[in-house]
Amino acid sequence: MEKLQKALQKARESREGQALDARPAVTAARAPVSTEGPWAELAPFTPDPAVLHRHRIFSYIAQKEAAPFDVLRTKVFLAMRQNGWTRLAITSPEQGCGKSTVACNLAFGLSRQTQTRTMLLDLDMRRPGVAALLGCRPQHNMRDMLTGQVSPQDHMLCVNGNLALAMSGGSTADPTDILTARQTGEVLDTLQARYAPHVMIFDLGPMLQTDDARAVLKYVDCALVLAKAEQTRASHLDTCEREVGQLTNVLGVVLNDCRHVEAEADYYYQGEV
Ligand SMILES: Nc1ncnc2c1ncn2[C@@H]1O[C@H](COP(=O)(O)OP(=O)(O)OP(=O)(O)O)[C@@H](O)[C@H]1O
Ligand SMILES: [Mg+2]
Repeated sequence: MEKLQKALQKARESREGQALDARPAVTAARAPVSTEGPWAELAPFTPDPAVLHRHRIFSYIAQKEAAPFDVLRTKVFLAMRQNGWTRLAITSPEQGCGKSTVACNLAFGLSRQTQTRTMLLDLDMRRPGVAALLGCRPQHNMRDMLTGQVSPQDHMLCVNGNLALAMSGGSTADPTDILTARQTGEVLDTLQARYAPHVMIFDLGPMLQTDDARAVLKYVDCALVLAKAEQTRASHLDTCEREVGQLTNVLGVVLNDCRHVEAEADYYYQGEV
């Protein structure tokens, strides 16, 4: 979190080509969720709680298993609000660290804050994971939305009136070209202007295996770096954190699947999930 202090001055202006001040600030956008307007036009989606639970998405309701994710949600939300940030990326050094699981838990946890509008975008276009975790089969891919072949209102689904999901029904072979295109930045800006989300969560691919995640980091305000306990090498985590830090603000490093804290986690959150 020390990096947050250092990052305050360079936060918004540092991102290439982004007029951050034009974006709605988190604090300024805390209006009640409307039953009219662009959010009401999105197709509703009600995930099956059994599917969510099976995929370790616990935070759709307040329950014991959701507690670590709820603490992470609130820490992230407060830090982003304090800094006027709205766009959060989630990445890791290598695949399988739990990025999509954490992204979904953060999104559903935020959606329990009824006054908060949240958007979850699956930008791991090579290996999209969000739709499968939620038991959903989108008709289109993120590629279709980012290239303008399908409109956001026809692509996104909405949970509970305040969580918009932009997912992929299949993989895109070489997404870097799309992710670096000017049009992608414009689509993201349009989403932000039209839906005024308080938080946009970008589920990304791993940093050290392709350059897809790197391409997206220029669009975000901050990032969480995930490591998997007893799997991620310290050297890989170090390299990943450094590279992410060159492109955006590192909000924190989350040690995922850390089994030795389970007993304490009944009552306290120890910083891992
Ligand atoms: N805290 C956890 N405890 C146990 N298993 C977990 C935990 N977090 C994630 N997993 C499991 O690890 C696997 C990978 O999770 P997930 O798909 O979220 O990772 P990912 O980083 O998004 O992977 P990829 O890089 O392939 O997109 C899944 O089977 C998931 O259920
Ligand atoms: Mg994933």
